[in-house]
Amino acid sequence: MSPTQTQLLETLRRTVGAANVLTHEDPTTDLTAWELDWRRRERGRALAVVRPGNTQEVADVVKACAAAGTSIVPQGGNTGMVVGSTPNDSGTQVVLSLTRMNKVRKLDPGNLTITVDAGCVLQNLQEVCEKEGFLFPLSLASEGSCTIGGNLGTNAGGTQVVRFGNTRELCLGLEVVTASGEIWSGLTGLRKDNTGYDLRHLFIGSEGTLGVITAATMKLYPMPVTQLTAFAAVPSLQAAVELLGLAHKTISSGLTGFEVMGQFALSLVVKHFPQQRVPFWQDSPYCVVLENSDNESEEHARAQFERLLEAAMEMGCVTDAVVAESVAQAKALWHIRESIPLAQAQEGLNIKHDISINVSRIPEFVDLCNGKLLQAFPGARLVTYGHLGDGNLHYNVQAPEGQDQEKFLVEQEGPMNALVYDIVDAFNGSISAEHGIGSLKADKLAHHKSPVALGLMRAIKTALDPHNLMNPGKVLT
Ligand code: FAD
Ligand code: MLT
Ligand code: ZN
Repeated sequence: MSPTQTQLLETLRRTVGAANVLTHEDPTTDLTAWELDWRRRERGRALAVVRPGNTQEVADVVKACAAAGTSIVPQGGNTGMVVGSTPNDSGTQVVLSLTRMNKVRKLDPGNLTITVDAGCVLQNLQEVCEKEGFLFPLSLASEGSCTIGGNLGTNAGGTQVVRFGNTRELCLGLEVVTASGEIWSGLTGLRKDNTGYDLRHLFIGSEGTLGVITAATMKLYPMPVTQLTAFAAVPSLQAAVELLGLAHKTISSGLTGFEVMGQFALSLVVKHFPQQRVPFWQDSPYCVVLENSDNESEEHARAQFERLLEAAMEMGCVTDAVVAESVAQAKALWHIRESIPLAQAQEGLNIKHDISINVSRIPEFVDLCNGKLLQAFPGARLVTYGHLGDGNLHYNVQAPEGQDQEKFLVEQEGPMNALVYDIVDAFNGSISAEHGIGSLKADKLAHHKSPVALGLMRAIKTALDPHNLMNPGKVLT
């Protein structure tokens, strides 16, 4: 360790307390939880994991790191999918973990807002809001461990975007520690504010490369009277898109979830979580889970769902369907959908393509891509599912049965990504709909984003972080 690093660690210990600076100096300290990404794609090595307890401490940590020329990796729940929240393997970076900063600062019922520390776990935030009769409509399968800071850092999507938008749309204000250690207090809660550039939107989705989000003011919605869930078998992706159109017409703004799941994706849930009862999966190439949130009554919502599903069956875009009879049944149906990424992880290392295409063109995209991909990579197992209501597919791939998974990734990920992303480009789509870029896709971004857009992004990065100390190597190479 260099004298500068030793001095930095001393300063950090003084700033946040020795118990909140974890290093490899003590061989019994296990830093795996901070150094290994959720998908187990890469293991880094940190100089230290630092856990500040308030915004001033974050600012002091950032200043100390800047003075020592040490780069910082902001981290929330470390559930990201693109290796964005873990350090590189140099042993020189500081992981700045926000998880001790987990307080609700203020709930303002009149303004329909809640202000929370960045390290607040999403599920805790949802529960606090629910207790007060409000809905915080961000929902991801990782909600038990991801944080609002990470959700903002990645501009997370999830299963309610079709009605409420991405995390960006739910945020009204931020508090940020800049790359030089200044505190920007932008927790206004205003719904209208046209006083120049909207800085909040620069930090949202910047994956920790421009500053550290320390708190946020988020929008709340009145809790709907009822949230009904239906699970339907559809004969094709085209049929799922037709059902979506019909659901928009019939349920309108009550449509708060519309997820599609391919047969192989569901078979992985059945295989790895055999206690779950998955309807229709053996008889249908795709199933859909829909949610209807209603402010009138459960009877009204049921009648709407019945009208929708009857019309869909008449049109031939639904072959079978079930509407949950209770909250427990609804949860079980959603649990099937949410278990897919976990089942995929159980099945082994995999390749993820988190893509978006205009909804109307998704069936055409999948037909074309399936054909080309299976021709080029015989035996590859396609795990297709996702947020069809948003045009966001998880077009994921599992190695052929019995094949060495590490070898499959090393040899096939590059050419497979290229094949899929070139088709995404041809459809004017995006190579990252909701997971972000991290370090996993940083080289791909350079190929798939326009040079003008990349130039503007680099200019923003240089202006806000001139010494490249905030999460270097992520997003931009
Ligand atoms: P981390 O993983 O810790 O960090 C993610 C990125 O944000 C990193 O670049 C990090 O540097 C940055 N960051 C973290 N905190 C801050 C901060 N305070 N200030 C600045 N930058 C920060 N994502 C979706 O969008 N939709 C889904 O449906 C979805 N489902 C998932 C299901 C599972 C089972 C899992 C494991 C993940 C899923 N994800 C999904 C991905 C992940 O949960 C989200 O990206 C989530 O928003 C990350 O939150 P986190 O607190 O874990 O952030
Ligand atoms: C999800 O929607 O479940 C995740 O974003 C998908 C994934 O893990 O690929
Ligand atoms: Zn997703």
